[in-house]
Amino acid sequence: IALVMVLALSACAKSNGTLTMATEATFPPYEYYDGEVIVGIDVEIAVALADKLGMELVIDDMEFDSALMAVQEGRSDMVLAGLTYTEERDLVMDFTDSYAKGIQVVIVKEGSDVTMDNLGDMMIGTQLGTTGYIYASDTVENGGYGEDHVIAYDNGITAVQALMNDQIDAVIIDNAPAQAFVEANPGLTLLDGEWALENYAIGFTKGN
Ligand code: ARG
Repeated sequence: IALVMVLALSACAKSNGTLTMATEATFPPYEYYDGEVIVGIDVEIAVALADKLGMELVIDDMEFDSALMAVQEGRSDMVLAGLTYTEERDLVMDFTDSYAKGIQVVIVKEGSDVTMDNLGDMMIGTQLGTTGYIYASDTVENGGYGEDHVIAYDNGITAVQALMNDQIDAVIIDNAPAQAFVEANPGLTLLDGEWALENYAIGFTKGN
């Protein structure tokens, strides 16, 4: 009887179809690989949502800018990726209420002479398509450092590797993965202070 009930439950859990989540899974603790499996805060939220809706969750890992496009074009239902709410993104997708605060911080090498005030003279690494890239590459008049000072890497890990190889002077990235990257890589540290404050929310295809 117990077995039959489990089967009935799981059949019922999938009866409303699949809920697809686009993400970029090098972003601990929100989404990252534990062996072959993608885990993290965003995954737990998505699992709870799928359970509540009686749907089967499917996670699609891709580059961050592709995850944004997948939702805009309706190939995924939602993007859960430590995604910052912005007015520009709000024009092309629907957002939930915010579920967490995001802070953009600056990773540097220990002993480097980079400060919050001289970042404009440095080469800065960011993740492609993220708010860190968008703000840092903006013009000086708009509070950025100009495109010539900013490189967009495929993800946070490749940006951090470039910093360790002295190809760039700093990485601007969200605080939570930054903490994890600094812990995992001796010789890196965070500059004191917050470079930007943001709110994370889930993005859905418009009208989904
Ligand atoms: N919060 C930033 C943004 O929305 C970066 C998010 C990157 N997320 C990721 N899973 N790689 O632009």
